[in-house]
Amino acid sequence: MKKRENWSWRGAFIFAVLGSAVGLGNAWRFPYMVAQNGGGAFLIPYIFALLTAGIPLMLLEFGIGHKYMSAPPIAYRRAGKGLEMVGWWGNAASFVIITYYGVVMAWAINYVVHALNLSWGEDTTGFFLNFLRVSEGPGVLGRINIPVLISFLIGWIMVVAIVYSGVTGVGKVVMVTATMPVILLIVLAIRGFTLEGAAAGLDYYLSPNFAALSNLAVWRDAYSQVFFSLSVGMGVLIAYASYLPRDAEIANNVFIASLADAGIAFLAGLAIFSTVGYMAAQQGAAVADVAGSGGLGLAFMVYPKVINLLPGAPFFGVLFFLLLITLAIDSQFSLVEGCIGAIMDKWNLKRSTAVAAVSLPGFLIGLIFVTDGGLHWLDIVDKFVNSYGLIVVGLVECIVLGWIIGPKKIRDHVNGLSEIKVGGWFDFCVKYLTPAALIFILVYNLVIDLKVPYGGYPQWALNVGWVMVILLPVIAFILSKLKTAGEADEYMEEQN
Ligand code: PFF
Repeated sequence: MKKRENWSWRGAFIFAVLGSAVGLGNAWRFPYMVAQNGGGAFLIPYIFALLTAGIPLMLLEFGIGHKYMSAPPIAYRRAGKGLEMVGWWGNAASFVIITYYGVVMAWAINYVVHALNLSWGEDTTGFFLNFLRVSEGPGVLGRINIPVLISFLIGWIMVVAIVYSGVTGVGKVVMVTATMPVILLIVLAIRGFTLEGAAAGLDYYLSPNFAALSNLAVWRDAYSQVFFSLSVGMGVLIAYASYLPRDAEIANNVFIASLADAGIAFLAGLAIFSTVGYMAAQQGAAVADVAGSGGLGLAFMVYPKVINLLPGAPFFGVLFFLLLITLAIDSQFSLVEGCIGAIMDKWNLKRSTAVAAVSLPGFLIGLIFVTDGGLHWLDIVDKFVNSYGLIVVGLVECIVLGWIIGPKKIRDHVNGLSEIKVGGWFDFCVKYLTPAALIFILVYNLVIDLKVPYGGYPQWALNVGWVMVILLPVIAFILSKLKTAGEADEYMEEQN
Protein backbone atom coordinates (compact mmCIF):
# COMPACT_ATOMS: atom_id res chain seq x y z
CA MET A 1 0.00 0.00 0.00
CA LYS A 2 1.21 3.49 -0.85
CA LYS A 3 2.32 5.56 2.10
CA ARG A 4 -0.28 8.17 2.93
CA GLU A 5 0.69 11.85 2.79
CA ASN A 6 1.21 13.37 6.22
CA TRP A 7 1.16 16.82 7.81
CA SER A 8 4.79 17.85 7.89
CA TRP A 9 4.93 19.58 11.27
CA ARG A 10 3.04 19.29 14.52
CA GLY A 11 0.93 22.41 14.25
CA ALA A 12 0.05 21.97 10.58
CA PHE A 13 -3.18 20.09 11.17
CA ILE A 14 -4.66 22.51 13.69
CA PHE A 15 -3.62 25.49 11.56
CA ALA A 16 -5.22 23.92 8.51
CA VAL A 17 -8.43 23.15 10.39
CA LEU A 18 -8.54 26.69 11.72
CA GLY A 19 -7.82 28.05 8.27
CA SER A 20 -10.80 26.14 6.97
CA ALA A 21 -13.11 27.01 9.83
CA VAL A 22 -12.24 30.67 10.13
CA GLY A 23 -13.66 32.23 7.02
CA LEU A 24 -16.17 34.71 5.75
CA GLY A 25 -18.64 33.03 8.11
CA ASN A 26 -16.76 34.31 11.16
CA ALA A 27 -16.11 37.82 10.01
CA TRP A 28 -19.45 38.61 8.39
CA ARG A 29 -22.08 36.18 9.36
CA PHE A 30 -21.31 35.88 13.05
CA PRO A 31 -21.30 39.56 14.04
CA TYR A 32 -24.45 40.13 12.07
CA MET A 33 -26.16 37.11 13.62
CA VAL A 34 -25.27 38.35 17.09
CA ALA A 35 -26.58 41.83 16.42
CA GLN A 36 -29.79 40.53 14.90
CA ASN A 37 -30.52 37.81 17.41
CA GLY A 38 -30.49 39.39 20.82
CA GLY A 39 -26.97 40.85 21.01
CA GLY A 40 -24.86 39.40 23.80
CA ALA A 41 -27.68 37.01 24.69
CA PHE A 42 -27.06 35.19 21.39
CA LEU A 43 -23.87 33.81 22.89
CA ILE A 44 -26.00 31.49 25.02
CA PRO A 45 -27.67 29.56 22.15
CA TYR A 46 -24.40 29.82 20.23
CA ILE A 47 -22.38 28.13 22.97
CA PHE A 48 -25.17 25.62 23.46
CA ALA A 49 -25.11 24.78 19.75
CA LEU A 50 -21.31 24.59 19.84
CA LEU A 51 -21.41 22.05 22.67
CA THR A 52 -24.32 19.97 21.41
CA ALA A 53 -23.67 19.97 17.65
CA GLY A 54 -20.40 21.64 16.68
CA ILE A 55 -18.04 19.78 19.00
CA PRO A 56 -19.69 16.33 18.66
CA LEU A 57 -19.70 16.56 14.87
CA MET A 58 -16.13 17.74 14.77
CA LEU A 59 -15.11 14.83 16.99
CA LEU A 60 -17.08 12.50 14.76
CA GLU A 61 -15.41 13.73 11.57
CA PHE A 62 -11.89 13.85 13.01
CA GLY A 63 -12.43 10.40 14.49
CA ILE A 64 -13.67 8.82 11.27
CA GLY A 65 -10.99 10.45 9.12
CA HIS A 66 -8.23 9.38 11.46
CA LYS A 67 -9.47 5.88 12.24
CA TYR A 68 -10.16 4.95 8.63
CA MET A 69 -7.26 6.97 7.18
CA SER A 70 -9.04 8.24 4.14
CA ALA A 71 -11.04 11.07 2.64
CA PRO A 72 -14.81 10.82 3.21
CA PRO A 73 -16.08 8.26 0.67
CA ILE A 74 -13.50 5.59 1.39
CA ALA A 75 -13.47 6.39 5.11
CA TYR A 76 -17.21 5.66 5.26
CA ARG A 77 -16.79 2.66 2.97
CA ARG A 78 -14.32 1.25 5.45
CA ALA A 79 -16.58 2.09 8.36
CA GLY A 80 -19.46 0.02 7.06
CA LYS A 81 -20.93 -1.65 4.03
CA GLY A 82 -22.96 0.61 1.80
CA LEU A 83 -21.92 3.79 3.62
CA GLU A 84 -19.61 5.20 0.95
CA MET A 85 -22.39 7.37 -0.38
CA VAL A 86 -22.48 9.39 2.86
CA GLY A 87 -18.94 10.56 2.17
CA TRP A 88 -19.71 11.58 -1.39
CA TRP A 89 -22.77 13.45 -0.23
CA GLY A 90 -20.65 15.78 1.86
CA ASN A 91 -18.15 16.16 -0.96
CA ALA A 92 -20.94 16.96 -3.41
CA ALA A 93 -22.28 19.67 -1.11
CA SER A 94 -18.80 21.07 -0.61
CA PHE A 95 -18.27 21.17 -4.35
CA VAL A 96 -21.29 23.46 -4.61
CA ILE A 97 -19.72 25.84 -2.08
CA ILE A 98 -16.44 25.67 -4.01
CA THR A 99 -18.15 27.07 -7.09
CA TYR A 100 -19.27 30.30 -5.44
CA TYR A 101 -16.93 30.88 -2.47
CA GLY A 102 -14.15 31.72 -4.92
CA VAL A 103 -16.33 34.40 -6.51
CA VAL A 104 -16.70 36.25 -3.24
CA MET A 105 -12.94 36.07 -2.91
CA ALA A 106 -12.70 37.50 -6.42
CA TRP A 107 -14.75 40.54 -5.37
CA ALA A 108 -12.40 41.04 -2.43
CA ILE A 109 -9.37 40.91 -4.75
CA ASN A 110 -10.97 43.62 -6.88
CA TYR A 111 -11.77 45.70 -3.85
CA VAL A 112 -8.14 45.71 -2.72
CA VAL A 113 -7.42 47.63 -5.90
CA HIS A 114 -10.44 49.90 -5.47
CA ALA A 115 -9.37 50.65 -1.90
CA LEU A 116 -6.12 52.19 -3.14
CA ASN A 117 -7.95 55.28 -4.36
CA LEU A 118 -11.31 54.71 -2.65
CA SER A 119 -12.89 54.46 -6.06
CA TRP A 120 -16.22 53.34 -4.58
CA GLY A 121 -16.93 56.98 -3.74
CA GLU A 122 -19.79 57.97 -1.46
CA ASP A 123 -22.53 55.75 -2.84
CA THR A 124 -20.91 52.46 -1.92
CA THR A 125 -24.07 50.41 -2.47
CA GLY A 126 -24.54 51.84 -5.95
CA PHE A 127 -20.87 51.19 -6.64
CA PHE A 128 -21.12 47.57 -5.57
CA LEU A 129 -24.22 46.92 -7.69
CA ASN A 130 -22.63 48.71 -10.63
CA PHE A 131 -19.34 46.93 -10.21
CA LEU A 132 -21.16 43.59 -10.42
CA ARG A 133 -23.58 45.03 -13.01
CA VAL A 134 -26.30 43.21 -11.06
CA SER A 135 -29.18 42.32 -13.38
CA GLU A 136 -32.84 42.69 -12.46
CA GLY A 137 -33.31 39.04 -11.59
CA PRO A 138 -31.97 35.49 -11.87
CA GLY A 139 -33.61 35.19 -15.31
CA VAL A 140 -31.17 37.69 -16.81
CA LEU A 141 -27.64 36.32 -16.83
CA GLY A 142 -26.21 38.98 -19.15
CA ARG A 143 -22.49 38.86 -19.81
CA ILE A 144 -19.39 37.73 -17.98
CA ASN A 145 -17.93 40.46 -15.79
CA ILE A 146 -14.34 40.82 -16.96
CA PRO A 147 -12.70 42.39 -13.87
CA VAL A 148 -14.35 39.77 -11.67
CA LEU A 149 -13.35 37.04 -14.11
CA ILE A 150 -9.71 38.11 -13.96
CA SER A 151 -9.58 38.06 -10.17
CA PHE A 152 -11.61 34.83 -10.10
CA LEU A 153 -8.94 33.27 -12.28
CA ILE A 154 -6.15 34.67 -10.09
CA GLY A 155 -7.87 33.22 -7.02
CA TRP A 156 -8.20 29.81 -8.64
CA ILE A 157 -4.58 29.81 -9.76
CA MET A 158 -3.51 30.42 -6.15
CA VAL A 159 -5.80 27.68 -4.85
CA VAL A 160 -4.63 25.18 -7.48
CA ALA A 161 -0.98 25.98 -6.80
CA ILE A 162 -1.53 25.34 -3.09
CA VAL A 163 -3.47 22.09 -3.31
CA TYR A 164 -1.22 20.85 -6.09
CA SER A 165 1.73 21.14 -3.73
CA GLY A 166 0.09 18.50 -1.55
CA VAL A 167 -0.54 18.21 2.15
CA THR A 168 2.98 19.42 2.89
CA GLY A 169 2.35 22.56 0.86
CA VAL A 170 -1.04 23.16 2.47
CA GLY A 171 0.58 22.74 5.88
CA LYS A 172 3.08 25.50 5.07
CA VAL A 173 0.66 27.94 3.49
CA VAL A 174 -1.72 27.82 6.45
CA MET A 175 1.00 29.22 8.69
CA VAL A 176 0.32 32.48 6.89
CA THR A 177 -3.32 32.23 5.85
CA ALA A 178 -4.51 31.15 9.30
CA THR A 179 -2.51 33.69 11.28
CA MET A 180 -2.77 36.74 9.01
CA PRO A 181 -6.53 37.21 9.51
CA VAL A 182 -6.09 37.18 13.27
CA ILE A 183 -3.35 39.80 13.13
CA LEU A 184 -5.37 41.95 10.73
CA LEU A 185 -8.46 41.63 12.89
CA ILE A 186 -6.55 42.70 15.98
CA VAL A 187 -5.22 45.74 14.11
CA LEU A 188 -8.70 46.62 12.89
CA ALA A 189 -10.23 46.08 16.34
CA ILE A 190 -7.68 48.36 18.01
CA ARG A 191 -8.28 50.95 15.31
CA GLY A 192 -12.04 50.53 15.90
CA PHE A 193 -11.86 50.92 19.68
CA THR A 194 -10.07 54.23 19.41
CA LEU A 195 -12.76 55.77 17.21
CA GLU A 196 -15.45 58.07 18.43
CA GLY A 197 -18.81 56.29 18.70
CA ALA A 198 -17.20 52.88 19.12
CA ALA A 199 -18.98 52.33 22.42
CA ALA A 200 -22.41 52.76 20.84
CA GLY A 201 -21.52 50.19 18.17
CA LEU A 202 -20.28 47.71 20.74
CA ASP A 203 -23.32 48.34 22.83
CA TYR A 204 -25.52 47.44 19.88
CA TYR A 205 -23.44 44.34 19.19
CA LEU A 206 -23.35 43.00 22.71
CA SER A 207 -26.06 44.35 24.99
CA PRO A 208 -28.06 41.25 25.83
CA ASN A 209 -31.72 40.95 25.09
CA PHE A 210 -32.69 37.79 26.91
CA ALA A 211 -36.24 37.90 25.58
CA ALA A 212 -34.80 36.90 22.19
CA LEU A 213 -34.01 33.47 23.60
CA SER A 214 -37.68 32.52 23.52
CA ASN A 215 -37.64 32.97 19.76
CA LEU A 216 -37.02 29.70 17.89
CA ALA A 217 -35.45 31.53 14.95
CA VAL A 218 -32.62 32.61 17.23
CA TRP A 219 -31.83 28.98 18.09
CA ARG A 220 -32.08 28.00 14.45
CA ASP A 221 -29.59 30.71 13.54
CA ALA A 222 -27.22 29.63 16.30
CA TYR A 223 -27.11 26.05 15.06
CA SER A 224 -26.74 27.03 11.41
CA GLN A 225 -23.98 29.44 12.28
CA VAL A 226 -22.01 26.91 14.31
CA PHE A 227 -22.37 24.41 11.52
CA PHE A 228 -21.17 26.64 8.74
CA SER A 229 -18.46 28.22 10.82
CA LEU A 230 -16.85 24.99 11.96
CA SER A 231 -16.80 23.54 8.42
CA VAL A 232 -18.59 20.40 9.55
CA GLY A 233 -20.76 18.27 7.27
CA MET A 234 -18.55 18.86 4.24
CA GLY A 235 -16.01 16.11 4.52
CA VAL A 236 -13.19 18.63 4.81
CA LEU A 237 -12.39 17.69 8.39
CA ILE A 238 -12.46 13.97 7.57
CA ALA A 239 -9.93 14.51 4.79
CA TYR A 240 -7.67 16.70 6.95
CA ALA A 241 -7.75 14.23 9.85
CA SER A 242 -6.83 11.38 7.54
CA TYR A 243 -3.40 12.96 7.03
CA LEU A 244 -2.63 12.89 10.77
CA PRO A 245 0.05 10.55 12.08
CA ARG A 246 -1.22 7.43 13.83
CA ASP A 247 -0.46 8.68 17.34
CA ALA A 248 -2.04 12.11 16.92
CA GLU A 249 -4.14 13.68 19.63
CA ILE A 250 -7.70 14.25 18.48
CA ALA A 251 -9.89 15.41 21.35
CA ASN A 252 -7.79 18.41 22.34
CA ASN A 253 -7.55 19.51 18.71
CA VAL A 254 -11.34 19.56 18.59
CA PHE A 255 -11.54 21.78 21.65
CA ILE A 256 -8.81 24.12 20.45
CA ALA A 257 -10.34 24.45 16.98
CA SER A 258 -13.91 25.03 18.08
CA LEU A 259 -13.05 27.52 20.81
CA ALA A 260 -10.56 29.42 18.66
CA ASP A 261 -13.09 29.61 15.83
CA ALA A 262 -15.68 31.09 18.18
CA GLY A 263 -13.12 33.45 19.70
CA ILE A 264 -12.06 34.79 16.32
CA ALA A 265 -15.69 35.31 15.31
CA PHE A 266 -16.20 37.28 18.51
CA LEU A 267 -13.10 39.36 17.81
CA ALA A 268 -14.37 40.10 14.31
CA GLY A 269 -17.58 41.42 15.84
CA LEU A 270 -15.60 43.78 18.06
CA ALA A 271 -13.69 45.14 15.08
CA ILE A 272 -16.74 45.56 12.91
CA PHE A 273 -19.22 47.01 15.33
CA SER A 274 -16.85 49.50 16.89
CA THR A 275 -16.21 50.80 13.39
CA VAL A 276 -19.88 50.74 12.46
CA GLY A 277 -20.54 52.74 15.65
CA TYR A 278 -18.06 55.33 14.42
CA MET A 279 -19.86 55.62 11.14
CA ALA A 280 -23.21 56.06 12.86
CA ALA A 281 -21.72 58.82 15.01
CA GLN A 282 -20.30 60.60 11.95
CA GLN A 283 -23.61 60.51 10.17
CA GLY A 284 -25.82 61.05 13.20
CA ALA A 285 -27.59 57.82 12.32
CA ALA A 286 -28.67 54.92 14.54
CA VAL A 287 -26.24 51.99 14.67
CA ALA A 288 -29.08 49.63 13.76
CA ASP A 289 -29.66 51.48 10.49
CA VAL A 290 -26.00 51.45 9.53
CA ALA A 291 -25.64 47.75 10.32
CA GLY A 292 -28.95 47.02 8.62
CA SER A 293 -27.64 44.83 5.86
CA GLY A 294 -25.72 41.84 7.10
CA GLY A 295 -23.50 39.31 5.44
CA LEU A 296 -21.94 40.30 2.19
CA GLY A 297 -23.76 43.60 2.16
CA LEU A 298 -21.97 44.63 5.32
CA ALA A 299 -18.61 43.71 3.81
CA PHE A 300 -18.94 45.29 0.41
CA MET A 301 -21.47 48.07 0.91
CA VAL A 302 -21.27 49.26 4.51
CA TYR A 303 -17.62 48.76 5.24
CA PRO A 304 -16.26 50.80 2.32
CA LYS A 305 -18.39 53.64 3.63
CA VAL A 306 -16.75 53.34 7.00
CA ILE A 307 -13.34 53.17 5.37
CA ASN A 308 -14.07 56.47 3.60
CA LEU A 309 -14.41 58.15 6.97
CA LEU A 310 -11.31 56.70 8.56
CA PRO A 311 -8.18 58.73 8.89
CA GLY A 312 -5.65 56.78 6.78
CA ALA A 313 -8.49 55.44 4.65
CA PRO A 314 -6.76 53.65 1.74
CA PHE A 315 -4.39 51.87 4.09
CA PHE A 316 -7.18 50.42 6.21
CA GLY A 317 -9.22 49.68 3.11
CA VAL A 318 -6.47 47.56 1.63
CA LEU A 319 -5.93 45.90 5.00
CA PHE A 320 -9.59 45.10 5.30
CA PHE A 321 -9.98 43.46 1.89
CA LEU A 322 -6.72 41.59 2.35
CA LEU A 323 -8.33 40.28 5.51
CA LEU A 324 -11.26 38.98 3.49
CA ILE A 325 -8.93 37.30 1.00
CA THR A 326 -6.83 35.60 3.66
CA LEU A 327 -10.02 34.52 5.44
CA ALA A 328 -11.51 33.04 2.29
CA ILE A 329 -8.57 31.36 0.63
CA ASP A 330 -7.87 28.65 3.19
CA SER A 331 -11.57 27.84 3.50
CA GLN A 332 -11.69 27.51 -0.27
CA PHE A 333 -8.66 25.26 -0.60
CA SER A 334 -9.86 23.10 2.28
CA LEU A 335 -13.06 22.42 0.36
CA VAL A 336 -11.07 21.67 -2.77
CA GLU A 337 -8.67 19.41 -0.86
CA GLY A 338 -11.62 17.44 0.57
CA CYS A 339 -12.82 16.64 -2.96
CA ILE A 340 -9.34 15.96 -4.31
CA GLY A 341 -8.68 13.55 -1.45
CA ALA A 342 -11.95 11.76 -2.17
CA ILE A 343 -11.08 11.21 -5.81
CA MET A 344 -7.48 10.24 -5.14
CA ASP A 345 -8.48 7.68 -2.53
CA LYS A 346 -11.30 6.18 -4.56
CA TRP A 347 -9.50 5.73 -7.85
CA ASN A 348 -5.92 5.84 -6.69
CA LEU A 349 -5.26 8.81 -8.97
CA LYS A 350 -2.26 11.06 -9.14
CA ARG A 351 -2.72 14.32 -7.27
CA SER A 352 -2.33 16.37 -10.43
CA THR A 353 -5.18 14.50 -12.14
CA ALA A 354 -7.43 14.89 -9.11
CA VAL A 355 -6.63 18.62 -8.87
CA ALA A 356 -7.66 19.09 -12.48
CA ALA A 357 -10.79 16.97 -12.07
CA VAL A 358 -12.04 19.20 -9.26
CA SER A 359 -10.70 22.62 -10.21
CA LEU A 360 -11.67 22.76 -13.86
CA PRO A 361 -15.37 22.02 -13.35
CA GLY A 362 -15.29 24.16 -10.19
CA PHE A 363 -13.99 27.10 -12.15
CA LEU A 364 -16.29 26.58 -15.15
CA ILE A 365 -19.49 26.18 -13.12
CA GLY A 366 -18.43 29.16 -11.01
CA LEU A 367 -18.59 31.33 -14.13
CA ILE A 368 -22.37 31.47 -13.64
CA PHE A 369 -21.70 33.63 -10.59
CA VAL A 370 -19.41 35.89 -12.59
CA THR A 371 -22.26 36.99 -14.86
CA ASP A 372 -24.57 39.96 -14.34
CA GLY A 373 -27.16 37.62 -12.82
CA GLY A 374 -24.46 36.01 -10.68
CA LEU A 375 -25.28 37.70 -7.40
CA HIS A 376 -28.84 36.36 -7.48
CA TRP A 377 -27.66 32.85 -8.17
CA LEU A 378 -24.98 33.06 -5.54
CA ASP A 379 -27.60 34.07 -3.03
CA ILE A 380 -29.97 31.25 -4.02
CA VAL A 381 -27.32 28.52 -4.14
CA ASP A 382 -25.77 29.66 -0.85
CA LYS A 383 -29.16 29.65 0.81
CA PHE A 384 -30.08 26.13 -0.31
CA VAL A 385 -26.75 24.49 0.28
CA ASN A 386 -26.56 25.96 3.78
CA SER A 387 -30.17 25.45 4.82
CA TYR A 388 -30.49 21.96 3.41
CA GLY A 389 -27.26 20.51 1.96
CA LEU A 390 -24.99 20.91 4.98
CA ILE A 391 -27.62 20.25 7.59
CA VAL A 392 -28.90 17.10 5.91
CA VAL A 393 -25.40 15.71 5.55
CA GLY A 394 -24.72 16.42 9.23
CA LEU A 395 -27.94 14.66 10.13
CA VAL A 396 -27.11 11.64 7.98
CA GLU A 397 -23.65 11.49 9.56
CA CYS A 398 -25.19 11.41 13.02
CA ILE A 399 -27.68 8.72 12.08
CA VAL A 400 -25.06 6.58 10.41
CA LEU A 401 -22.56 6.91 13.22
CA GLY A 402 -25.09 6.86 16.03
CA TRP A 403 -27.22 4.00 14.83
CA ILE A 404 -25.17 1.94 12.37
CA ILE A 405 -21.46 2.22 13.15
CA GLY A 406 -21.94 3.02 16.82
CA PRO A 407 -20.49 6.16 18.42
CA LYS A 408 -18.52 4.14 20.92
CA LYS A 409 -16.29 2.78 18.18
CA ILE A 410 -15.11 6.26 17.28
CA ARG A 411 -15.03 7.42 20.89
CA ASP A 412 -12.82 4.49 21.88
CA HIS A 413 -10.52 5.27 18.99
CA VAL A 414 -10.25 8.92 20.00
CA ASN A 415 -9.83 8.07 23.69
CA GLY A 416 -7.08 5.63 22.88
CA LEU A 417 -5.04 8.55 21.56
CA SER A 418 -5.82 11.52 23.77
CA GLU A 419 -5.20 12.60 27.32
CA ILE A 420 -8.60 14.25 27.37
CA LYS A 421 -11.18 11.47 27.49
CA VAL A 422 -14.45 11.92 25.68
CA GLY A 423 -17.33 10.72 27.86
CA GLY A 424 -20.68 9.11 27.20
CA TRP A 425 -22.19 12.53 26.46
CA PHE A 426 -20.73 12.17 22.98
CA ASP A 427 -22.82 9.05 22.30
CA PHE A 428 -25.91 10.79 23.62
CA CYS A 429 -25.31 13.83 21.40
CA VAL A 430 -24.61 11.85 18.25
CA LYS A 431 -27.56 9.53 18.75
CA TYR A 432 -30.21 11.88 20.03
CA LEU A 433 -29.43 15.49 20.75
CA THR A 434 -27.59 16.60 17.60
CA PRO A 435 -29.97 14.86 15.19
CA ALA A 436 -32.95 16.28 17.08
CA ALA A 437 -31.51 19.80 16.76
CA LEU A 438 -30.79 19.30 13.07
CA ILE A 439 -34.26 17.93 12.37
CA PHE A 440 -35.68 20.96 14.14
CA ILE A 441 -33.69 23.31 11.88
CA LEU A 442 -34.71 21.42 8.76
CA VAL A 443 -38.38 21.46 9.60
CA TYR A 444 -38.22 25.09 10.65
CA ASN A 445 -36.52 26.10 7.40
CA LEU A 446 -38.91 24.02 5.34
CA VAL A 447 -41.98 25.57 6.92
CA ILE A 448 -40.68 29.07 6.26
CA ASP A 449 -39.34 28.42 2.76
CA LEU A 450 -42.51 26.73 1.59
CA LYS A 451 -44.58 29.61 2.92
CA VAL A 452 -42.55 32.60 1.81
CA PRO A 453 -40.40 32.42 -1.36
CA TYR A 454 -36.83 33.06 -0.24
CA GLY A 455 -35.50 36.51 -1.15
CA GLY A 456 -38.61 37.21 -3.22
CA TYR A 457 -37.14 35.21 -6.12
CA PRO A 458 -39.47 33.64 -8.73
CA GLN A 459 -40.47 30.07 -7.99
CA TRP A 460 -38.69 28.59 -11.01
CA ALA A 461 -35.37 29.99 -9.77
CA LEU A 462 -35.94 28.59 -6.29
CA ASN A 463 -36.81 25.25 -7.86
CA VAL A 464 -33.29 25.15 -9.24
CA GLY A 465 -32.15 25.28 -5.60
CA TRP A 466 -34.47 22.43 -4.64
CA VAL A 467 -33.34 20.31 -7.58
CA MET A 468 -29.74 20.91 -6.60
CA VAL A 469 -30.39 19.77 -3.03
CA ILE A 470 -32.12 16.63 -4.29
CA LEU A 471 -29.39 15.90 -6.84
CA LEU A 472 -26.65 15.85 -4.19
CA PRO A 473 -27.53 12.38 -2.80
CA VAL A 474 -28.29 11.08 -6.28
CA ILE A 475 -24.84 12.05 -7.51
CA ALA A 476 -23.34 10.67 -4.30
CA PHE A 477 -25.11 7.37 -4.84
CA ILE A 478 -23.89 7.07 -8.43
CA LEU A 479 -20.30 7.89 -7.47
CA SER A 480 -20.39 5.33 -4.70
CA LYS A 481 -21.40 2.66 -7.19
CA LEU A 482 -18.48 3.31 -9.54
CA LYS A 483 -15.65 0.82 -9.44
CA THR A 484 -13.10 1.48 -6.70
CA ALA A 485 -9.36 1.05 -7.14
CA GLY A 486 -8.19 -2.07 -5.36
CA GLU A 487 -6.08 -0.19 -2.80
CA ALA A 488 -9.11 1.44 -1.22
CA ASP A 489 -10.20 -1.88 0.28
CA GLU A 490 -6.81 -3.04 1.46
CA TYR A 491 -7.27 -1.41 4.81
CA MET A 492 -10.37 -3.45 5.54
CA GLU A 493 -8.55 -6.64 4.80
CA GLU A 494 -5.73 -5.62 7.10
CA GLN A 495 -8.13 -4.89 9.91
CA ASN A 496 -10.17 -8.06 9.64
N1 PFF B 1 -16.16 27.70 7.75
C1 PFF B 1 -16.06 28.61 6.64
C2 PFF B 1 -16.52 29.98 7.06
O1 PFF B 1 -16.87 30.19 8.23
O2 PFF B 1 -16.54 30.87 6.23
C3 PFF B 1 -16.85 28.17 5.45
C4 PFF B 1 -16.70 26.74 5.13
C5 PFF B 1 -15.46 26.26 4.74
C6 PFF B 1 -17.74 25.89 5.28
C7 PFF B 1 -15.27 24.92 4.53
C8 PFF B 1 -17.60 24.55 5.07
C9 PFF B 1 -16.34 24.08 4.70
F1 PFF B 1 -16.18 22.81 4.51
